[in-house]
Amino acid sequence: MPIEFCPGYDTALFRPLVETFPGHPVYHKDKFRVEWGPIFHRGRLDGSARVLVIGQDPAQHEGICRRILVGAAGQRVQGYLARLGLTRSYVMVNVYLYSVAPGNSGGSSINDPAITAYRNLWLDAIFAASGGAGGAGGAGTLEAVITFGTLAKKAWEKWTAANGGVPAGLAVANLTHPTADAHFGNPDTSASAATKLKNMLDGWNAGLDALRPAIAHPDITPVPTTRYGTRFIAQDLVVIPAVDLPPGLPAFMRDATEAWAVRDGRPKIIVTAPPAALAAPSAAPSAAVHAAATVPAVAAALAARPAARRGGLSALKGTVVTMKPGAAPLANHTIYIRDGVIAAIQPSAQAAPSGFAGVTASAAEGFIFPGFIELHNHLPYNALPLWNVPKKFEHRGQWRDHKDYKTLITGPMKTIVTAGGEALVAQGNRIIRS
Ligand code: URA
Repeated sequence: MPIEFCPGYDTALFRPLVETFPGHPVYHKDKFRVEWGPIFHRGRLDGSARVLVIGQDPAQHEGICRRILVGAAGQRVQGYLARLGLTRSYVMVNVYLYSVAPGNSGGSSINDPAITAYRNLWLDAIFAASGGAGGAGGAGTLEAVITFGTLAKKAWEKWTAANGGVPAGLAVANLTHPTADAHFGNPDTSASAATKLKNMLDGWNAGLDALRPAIAHPDITPVPTTRYGTRFIAQDLVVIPAVDLPPGLPAFMRDATEAWAVRDGRPKIIVTAPPAALAAPSAAPSAAVHAAATVPAVAAALAARPAARRGGLSALKGTVVTMKPGAAPLANHTIYIRDGVIAAIQPSAQAAPSGFAGVTASAAEGFIFPGFIELHNHLPYNALPLWNVPKKFEHRGQWRDHKDYKTLITGPMKTIVTAGGEALVAQGNRIIRS
């Protein structure tokens, strides 16, 4: 089976957000573990999310996997989504891009205007990608918001306050944070902690009751009807889907139930692959999968590229007309072309640019107008040799009737045209007439 992976942020909405993330001093290094870089999200950014989850801040597992809510807290959240019938139609962001530093609860930054403004842009982009809310006849796809923890609730309220309230048709559940029963990763086994955990899971169950009717497009049907007991059990933790993580991460980073990353003071994180991962490493796609899926898929993708993109490397030398107002033509220059796009124009005497060593430049006869398509000329003339006319003609009506014209001009021209663009490109590299 091919292994899915998260495609990342290269879209018009999310790329600018990721390119311009705030670091120190907006996220001050004394308050946040900025040394591990920002961790932005987990889940679908393509508008297919039905539920928006807001967590608090990434921990050490998130710092390694580069996606949020992947450790024990993440597997608990994944289990919650599974109970709502959601296996992939969700998107998650945290209140903060960085782990809160030791000795700091995170509460002191919840009203920070720059942090809020950046987070609100993320929420704006998620709502824009989804077309807004989808319930109550709305045209969008988002059907519910779940906040985990008091800071997540506050962050959500900041966004709704800035956006005229909760969008119509959106169900909202404010739940206790999934690690509220643990103290710095260690379960608290006291009686009061057991009561706290029971209260927390009662709240999670109430959330299920409120959210299930609101999620009109679950990934799986029938939607489970199960509820939480008084404490978490093994089945409440659900494996993080591969499609949520960057490519190539080992399976234990999604499915291990024991911590595989531990902090050793600041700024150290110790990562240890579980012994089971060493004994039975994650299965990579087999040679049979490569033969049946990978090879044909790559071949099809290569064939589907426009002809110009399949042109590879080429170079043309001559006098280059730059089209810059007032600029003189560049004599003895070479144009280097990679996959149909001009990579460089430079004096022919200069060493070829990187990647073009060994590419022989074809000599253009005349001027080169880079990127200029001369619509008056007949493109096949780029490939045909000049006709040595046998006599002087007075006007164009005469040469078209000459017996050699069909053999030397119109015949070969027709052949080139019917052979399609590739033949033209291959021949056209030899001579450019303009
Ligand atoms: N990891 C996260 O990414 N967010 C949380 O709120 C907790 C753990």
